[in-house]
Amino acid sequence: MNEKIIALQNEITEKLSATTDLSELENIRVATLGKKGSVTALLKGMKDLSPEERKSFGAEVNSLKELVTRKIEEKIKELKEKEIQAEIEAMPLFDITTPANLQRGSYHPITLVQRQCETIFKSMGFAVIDYPEIVTDYECFEALNIPKHHPARDMQDTYYLDNGQLLKSHTSAAQNAILKKYGKDLMEKGMPIKAIFPGRCFRNEATDACHENTFFQMEGVMVDKDISISNLIFFMKTMLSEVFRKDIKVRLRPGFFPFVEPGFELDISCLICGGDGCPSCKQSGWLELCPCGMIHPNVLSEGGIDPEEYTGFAFGLGLTRLAMMKYGVKDIRNLNSGSLKAMSQFTDDE
Ligand code: DAH
Repeated sequence: MNEKIIALQNEITEKLSATTDLSELENIRVATLGKKGSVTALLKGMKDLSPEERKSFGAEVNSLKELVTRKIEEKIKELKEKEIQAEIEAMPLFDITTPANLQRGSYHPITLVQRQCETIFKSMGFAVIDYPEIVTDYECFEALNIPKHHPARDMQDTYYLDNGQLLKSHTSAAQNAILKKYGKDLMEKGMPIKAIFPGRCFRNEATDACHENTFFQMEGVMVDKDISISNLIFFMKTMLSEVFRKDIKVRLRPGFFPFVEPGFELDISCLICGGDGCPSCKQSGWLELCPCGMIHPNVLSEGGIDPEEYTGFAFGLGLTRLAMMKYGVKDIRNLNSGSLKAMSQFTDDE
């Protein structure tokens, strides 16, 4: 083997084994295999040799180049592993017995009142049903006796999808499907339909202290033979006295909704101002909390139930309003603010 090559090989090998960090290694790589490196210089010098010499010298330089390349790669791997090992050793010891710094989360006030209402209605034999947020025009309006171009639609402008579906503007949108699904049991087994269906609703409207584009309602229906307004009033009163745990002033006044006949507005005296009038109750002292009524015969027959034989009531409890009243939230917009500071102060006091 050519002496020059042997000398260079020894020199490089020594340097490589003495290297302890990656940037020094990179310097060696450039100084040997780089454009102006020592190994590259040997390769370039070959053009001055005779063809005879060039053959054996070339083979030797190439194997030196391969050797150096391999040794550099091995060294990179070795140094990287050392670096990782050093990092691991520098880490503080993990102590499984150290108590965790647990900051407990809390439920949103709407979740709290929703659960509370569910418990109350379940104890009175109502089933709790989940329903999608995206519905059809038929579910949201047509099946509820609100044909196209009916002025009642103006009150419930919502968000439409390209395929014609929409974000439900009220939980009443689930009524038709529920009547259809449980109507059979009603007629075959003589069992009443008693169901509540809480859900998120959407409306395209200007927001203020008491209006939001996203809010929660809880709809309820009861259908059987001989259901009357007295049944409706009984369930509403029981629910309110359970939720507030005190006597609440309520009033029932006529209200128009195409899917009930007769229809009512059930108002409660504003608990924020005590009935004197404030922005939360639009200065009226009263809050519309639970519109309700006797299910319209057209809605019953659209749900496959004979209105000559059966009657029922329906209500649309404003869960968001209820949460505001119960917890004294003055501005509805706080509820969707995502502010942990504002929302984490409520606890389940049951
Ligand atoms: N869906 C109505 C709304 O959001 C509220 C409502 C009124 C629901 C009367 C009912 C009802 O079930 O009987 O405006």
